[in-house]
Amino acid sequence: MKGFITIEGCDGVGKTYQTNWLRQYCEENGYNNVIFTREPGGSDIAEQIRKIILDAKNEKMTDMCEAFLYAASRIQHLEDIVKPALEQGKTVFCDRFVHSSYVYQGLGRGLGLEKIVALNKLAVGEYMPEYTVFLDLSPEDAFKRKGGADKTDRMENTDLQFHKKVYQGYKYLVEQDPSKFIVIDASGSCEETHEKIISALKEKGIL
Ligand code: TYD
Repeated sequence: MKGFITIEGCDGVGKTYQTNWLRQYCEENGYNNVIFTREPGGSDIAEQIRKIILDAKNEKMTDMCEAFLYAASRIQHLEDIVKPALEQGKTVFCDRFVHSSYVYQGLGRGLGLEKIVALNKLAVGEYMPEYTVFLDLSPEDAFKRKGGADKTDRMENTDLQFHKKVYQGYKYLVEQDPSKFIVIDASGSCEETHEKIISALKEKGIL
């Protein structure tokens, strides 16, 4: 069991909930050589950057500043947490990574996919995930289930049109490189989605 696995999806899809459940599953089933972490943040300096990015008071932040801050948080977290764990032969599950920037900043904000891919290549170099688990649920359904967006979160608070672009962006990335994605239909119950994730990870030999 080894590798770098990222978990992606639109806001409100239940990604954090599912990731916590997966962590609990690993603990209860003796998968010890594994760590769970998240972006933006995940380490001391990166968490400080996260606060600046998500603070609803920072409404004047430019899109490009936002893109650079995500990339800055990413490289710090990669050096602090992800690289050391991978070097020790651990499996790393990371809640969001470069694909979030591709779709939120590149496509959602409209900065352009190529530009954001290049920026992130500069930040992470060769450290790309072996697989990306994509929790597939439209933002309309995700927010309905969640009971609306979190008003204190600058990103989540953006209009639905933005979140639709993000969702279409994920679908586009999956289409471009299907072998790298594990697509999970997240429209069912939490239990169903959890079961789907576990069986897909087993099928790929990750668990
Ligand atoms: P996250 O904490 O994962 O939110 P949630 O648990 O609700 O999914 O991410 C915070 C927000 O940051 C989320 O709206 C997605 C956004 N984001 C980007 O826009 N670009 C990025 O590169 C990353 C990592 C996150």
